[in-house]
Amino acid sequence: MGSPGKSLTGKALLAKIRSDFMGLDTLYETVNGERTRRIYLDSTASSLMLRPAASIAADFMKHYSNTHSKLHHSAHISTAAYDWAHARILSFVGADPEIYTCFFTGSGTTGGINRMARVFRDVHPGKDTAIISIMEHHSNDLPHRKHMKNVIHVPVEGLKEDKMCISLPQLEKTLREEAGKVSYVSITAVSNVTGIINPIQDIARIAHKYGALLMVDGAQSVAHLPTKMFYPDDPDACIDALVFSGHKTYTPGSPGVVIARKDHLLAIEPEEVGGGMVDRVLEDRYQVKDSFPDREEAGTPNIPGAIALATTIEILDRIGMQTLMEEEDIVMEAALKGMADISEIHVYGGTDLDLCPRAASISFNIAGMDHGLVAALLNDYFNIAVRNQCFCAHPYVKEMMSDDLEDKFGIIDFGNMSPEFMRKAGMVRASFGLYSTMEDVELLISALKDITQNGEEYSKGYEINAENDYVNVSYQVDNQAIFNIVGAVDQYLED
Ligand SMILES: Cc1ncc(COP(=O)(O)O)c(C=O)c1O
Repeated sequence: MGSPGKSLTGKALLAKIRSDFMGLDTLYETVNGERTRRIYLDSTASSLMLRPAASIAADFMKHYSNTHSKLHHSAHISTAAYDWAHARILSFVGADPEIYTCFFTGSGTTGGINRMARVFRDVHPGKDTAIISIMEHHSNDLPHRKHMKNVIHVPVEGLKEDKMCISLPQLEKTLREEAGKVSYVSITAVSNVTGIINPIQDIARIAHKYGALLMVDGAQSVAHLPTKMFYPDDPDACIDALVFSGHKTYTPGSPGVVIARKDHLLAIEPEEVGGGMVDRVLEDRYQVKDSFPDREEAGTPNIPGAIALATTIEILDRIGMQTLMEEEDIVMEAALKGMADISEIHVYGGTDLDLCPRAASISFNIAGMDHGLVAALLNDYFNIAVRNQCFCAHPYVKEMMSDDLEDKFGIIDFGNMSPEFMRKAGMVRASFGLYSTMEDVELLISALKDITQNGEEYSKGYEINAENDYVNVSYQVDNQAIFNIVGAVDQYLED
């Protein structure tokens, strides 16, 4: 007999899953002494955990074994589940398993980008240049600076029209000017600041036209949009490597993921070596496996994390990423509309989703208020968790804020680390996931209205601490009393 809900797919499955995340009912006390539900609008940093993924991964732990062990029952079960996790992810991102492999690395996207920067550098020894854009997260910028000789930042387009996605003419111009020198282009699919979506297939065609490979930073796209890496009838539109984070894909505790073409990986010795990726080791030589993913996964991997992530992906795929994207658009649109009705709010990037598609993130400022004060007020009075500052994307934030900062500070120098400048140079980011509801949006908008109307009064209760953060002078929360590990162990031992 099938279990109830087995055949649920699409919107029906989404309706069942939407409230089944860990942390949606977390309560904290606000400045006013009320215990309210925390509204989690920081999904772009890390999303909440899908409960069935956690519980299925916990069930798997009964059978946990190192996948390098071979002949006991648990080794068979673990190896089969871990193999399935790779295959599941390949199919989720539309990558033909004959051509691509999937491997896990590090704790997020950063490890995978560092790794693939070194791979692409070594695949093209005669080409010493990488092209990225100014809208990249530092994790898709600094690895290229470190591992490549030259990195060129392509500007964004439509600064005046507020579109703020990569300029394709500028990308092509740079590739033409640097002909023969560019090993690869590495671009984010979705900005972690504005949520603006880049036209990845067009970028792939341009990069390939000039003999460069394409790496895509999928940290902000994989959980929110359909992904397709392989187009058999349109090889130039294919993605050579895609990297994303399990912790941003509703599975904190899971590893980073790389999906890459096998032929590139086979062209060089794996960047990381150790147990599990070799057929034979003698004192004076070793033979690297040519089978994937073993070749790329030296050492014991994060098996439970990978299994939890593949479980999440199985569920996301049964809902359908197109359905998820459309549902998230409804929430985004409501949030953008609500913000547009508050004249003091400036949202960065185009706000018409038809002209300027976005996923998950909205960054904004309230006129006359520091980003840190707004984020603190949202937390302290309204129990709304958002992120502030520059979101590890300083060049992009600088591009969008320069006019405003010029008015306040004269010449803009983003190297200016003065506390006053730092309090102004930044934004507030509200970001959404598939569990975000219209109620969350309504609470955010009503809080923002209150803050814009009463900002001056609220600000009297705040001072700036040694870390340059706004803190409420009369509201001290004992976070250790809410959760601490030793206390949790004591409680476990008492029960
Ligand atoms: C677009 C983008 N790229 C890369 C990263 C780095 O991801 P991780 O911290 O998981 O390594 C982030 C993290 O916020 C991101 O938003």
